[in-house]
Amino acid sequence: MLFKYDLTALLAVAGSTLAVPAESIAVNSDSGYPWRWVGAKQNHAYWFDELESTLGVMQSSLFWNGTYWPETIQWIGAVLDTLVASSERSLTYALESYKSDGLGAQSSTASLQAEIKKYYSEIEAYYDDEDVIQIFGAAYDDAQWVVLEWLEVIKFINQYEAYASSDFGRADIARFAHRAHIFYNIVQTQFDTSLCGGGINWNPALAPYKNAITNELFLSSSIEMYLYFPGDSNTDPYPSPTYTNVTNITLPDLPPLAPHDPLLLSNAIKEYDWFKTHNFTNSQGLIVDGFHISPNQTTCDQRNEMVYTYNQGVLLSGLRQLWEATGNPQYLTDAYTYIESTQTATGWSSHTSSQANQWAGLGRNGIMEDYCDAPANCSQDAQIFKGIYFQHLDVFCEALPTETPLVPGVTYTATASLAASHAKKCREYLPWVEHNAHAALSTRDARGVVGGWWGASFVNKTQEPWPAFAVQKPEGSLDEWNEGWRLGGPPWECRGWHCRIDGRGSHGNGLAMRRLLRQRRGVVEGRQDPNDEGRGRTVETQGSGIGVVKAASDLCAARQGR
Ligand SMILES: *[C@@H]1O[C@H](CO)[C@@H](O)[C@H](O)[C@H]1NC(C)=O
Ligand SMILES: *[C@@H]1O[C@H](CO)[C@@H](O)[C@H](O)[C@H]1NC(C)=O
Ligand SMILES: *[C@@H]1O[C@H](CO)[C@@H](O)[C@H](O)[C@H]1NC(C)=O
Ligand SMILES: *[C@@H]1O[C@H](CO)[C@@H](O)[C@H](O)[C@H]1NC(C)=O
Ligand SMILES: *[C@@H]1O[C@H](CO)[C@@H](O)[C@H](O)[C@H]1NC(C)=O
Ligand SMILES: *[C@@H]1O[C@H](CO)[C@@H](O)[C@H](O)[C@H]1NC(C)=O
Ligand SMILES: *[C@@H]1O[C@H](CO)[C@@H](O)[C@H](O)[C@H]1NC(C)=O
Repeated sequence: MLFKYDLTALLAVAGSTLAVPAESIAVNSDSGYPWRWVGAKQNHAYWFDELESTLGVMQSSLFWNGTYWPETIQWIGAVLDTLVASSERSLTYALESYKSDGLGAQSSTASLQAEIKKYYSEIEAYYDDEDVIQIFGAAYDDAQWVVLEWLEVIKFINQYEAYASSDFGRADIARFAHRAHIFYNIVQTQFDTSLCGGGINWNPALAPYKNAITNELFLSSSIEMYLYFPGDSNTDPYPSPTYTNVTNITLPDLPPLAPHDPLLLSNAIKEYDWFKTHNFTNSQGLIVDGFHISPNQTTCDQRNEMVYTYNQGVLLSGLRQLWEATGNPQYLTDAYTYIESTQTATGWSSHTSSQANQWAGLGRNGIMEDYCDAPANCSQDAQIFKGIYFQHLDVFCEALPTETPLVPGVTYTATASLAASHAKKCREYLPWVEHNAHAALSTRDARGVVGGWWGASFVNKTQEPWPAFAVQKPEGSLDEWNEGWRLGGPPWECRGWHCRIDGRGSHGNGLAMRRLLRQRRGVVEGRQDPNDEGRGRTVETQGSGIGVVKAASDLCAARQGR
């Protein structure tokens, strides 16, 4: 196999360590930013190799049982499957270009083909085991992760076909598209102008909360449906044949949906227009978590100032694809601004290491961090957030097409100068992405599993115990993702005002409880490795590792998207 480590041998040798000791990390002494990591800079072969091994660990028996990741929860399963499908696209790109990229020294086309087939069979297995009944009854964000998941698989099949002129996977497209269609249908009519002038509510079982994630997902899933959904006229509305038996709910037929239906484009446009006019950014330009509506009000008047890493990312892929569909470069310009605000909020522009060490809004030392990372009290959900950020940045940075539109007849091509300026922007982000990928990889344990607090390697453990690195959350914020019990009280708990406890919502009643169950294990202060604390290293922290390493690999290759 191509993995950097031979997994079987690795698992047999307990106690060895792959973690890079902080002392041995090469630092950049000549750039004016002496604290930044340098290493295999802009070397696609290096990052591609790390991607293969990181993915190999997630898909080893540590986390994957052959059809499923038994330790994770449904929406995260959809994200992990998206990461596998997106990695399949990176593998296909490597197949197209491996000689020119210097990959030939490490991999042969035959071994790349074998890897692609192996992971594809795992995606197929997951299709059958995905718990679609649970996720069908969950909140409006959950459903949309499933849409993005199956569209990513379809994008891979198309890309592979274009490269290999093979019909590999083609027979699966109809059923994958049908699943994307069923789950998009849940949110398609939920854009509601009666409150806050628009936007989608998070969870019908709770008091109205128009949050960033649900609405960023509506932007990204709508535009991705517009571009890549191949159409579906199967009217079976059930996510699973046993749905009615399990839930005692019958559903109306699913209306057929054509490819490139203009409704999908208009959903994406109106969503982003609404998002932009409802100031979702704080004074640092970071996207906050969402808006509550005070009792008897109809405007979004109560802002939750909490910031999470994934909220900075999901709209990036949507903005890129809005450019593809409209040719309006403002969408790209907005995305550069979001990305640069996030970069700055990791302390990336600090010149000295003592400056870089300070919390900068969403990280420090140039490394992205959620508030829960350093004190090791992230919930299961929060452990995948950083991986989602880098997945969407990766999609955003695919090269803009100049000669052939990505979807002929539907999308635009870029002028040479726009394509060049986009590529230049993304090259400028690359050292930061690589710095984060180095940090993530340096948290690996003996099994090769990436930890959740990437910044741990910058901590001088002889100086202070690690909980001292916890920082105060923003003024006016409630951290509902890590403090699940908050959903059982105001402003979330539904008090009869504007609540909709209907068929779907009733599934959400146990949500606050379920979230509590996903909480952390105990924290024991003073241990040597902060990434052993809390929930420790999990399939979610591994998934986040794949997200950032894949982005480093793809940005190095500056791959042409499809
Ligand atoms: C993997 O785990 C899932 C969920 O626990 C289970 O339904 C499935 O049968 C398992 N698959 C295998 C091959 O063991
Ligand atoms: C639903 O339940 C009925 C009665 O138990 C059973 O006959 C039928 O086969 C079940 N259908 C499916 C799809 O499981
Ligand atoms: C299923 O739904 C039907 C129609 O609403 C109802 O009459 C029946 O009692 C329900 N059965 C169960 C087991 O809840
Ligand atoms: C959005 O809100 C933030 C924080 O209150 C403020 O600093 C910023 O100027 C606002 N932006 C716009 C465009 O109103
Ligand atoms: C909201 O309106 C209802 C019905 O008019 C009223 O009973 C209630 O006191 C109002 N609540 C607040 C907080 O104003
Ligand atoms: C860590 O902190 C101690 C105590 O302040 C200091 O003596 C030591 O040089 C530091 N080590 C590194 C690698 O910065
Ligand atoms: C995590 O720990 C920090 C530091 O002890 C604390 O401020 C924060 O409230 C904790 N968060 C959760 C979700 O428990």
